[in-house]
Amino acid sequence: MNRQSIKKSNRRYHRAQRIKKIRKHLEDDGRFLQLKNFNHHGATSVHTHVVNVAWWAHRLADLLPAKTDRESLVRGALLHDYFLYDWHDNHGHSPHGFTHPRTALNNAKDDFDLNEKESDIILSHMWPLTIRPPKYRESWLVTIADKIATFEETLGKRKSKKYRHPKTSGK
Ligand SMILES: [Fe+2]
Ligand SMILES: [Fe+2]
Repeated sequence: MNRQSIKKSNRRYHRAQRIKKIRKHLEDDGRFLQLKNFNHHGATSVHTHVVNVAWWAHRLADLLPAKTDRESLVRGALLHDYFLYDWHDNHGHSPHGFTHPRTALNNAKDDFDLNEKESDIILSHMWPLTIRPPKYRESWLVTIADKIATFEETLGKRKSKKYRHPKTSGK
């Protein structure tokens, strides 16, 4: 193994460990495990989806030369869809796409102390569908990561090890 691949593998390991640690904390202290009960895209649960988004957001942050607050990035990513209901039950009548960021933020605030970045990540992740654009670099990363993960999950590629480390899996 050359130095480049050792560095890449270390980065992958630390990314997986950070996501796992923060996920465990959210599972222990809040209703995070309930996300397993709700399907999101295709057969992907909301729980698996938010782990995928955290993985992608962290991976994108690792590629950037600019500094990012990884703790807030991962917490915000894991909580961005904390709306805690099955949106398929609304039969398309409720504007879930527009309203769920606010619902997720309110639920997350009920269970955890959020900083401003984490709140902004949750509230702005549906941009440009919702008008409010992301304010922080971390929020932009989650907004992009959400679209990539959704695209892959919708295409049924969620099991790809390319973008989700097995140790961070929500299953
Ligand atoms: Fe969402
Ligand atoms: Fe999402």
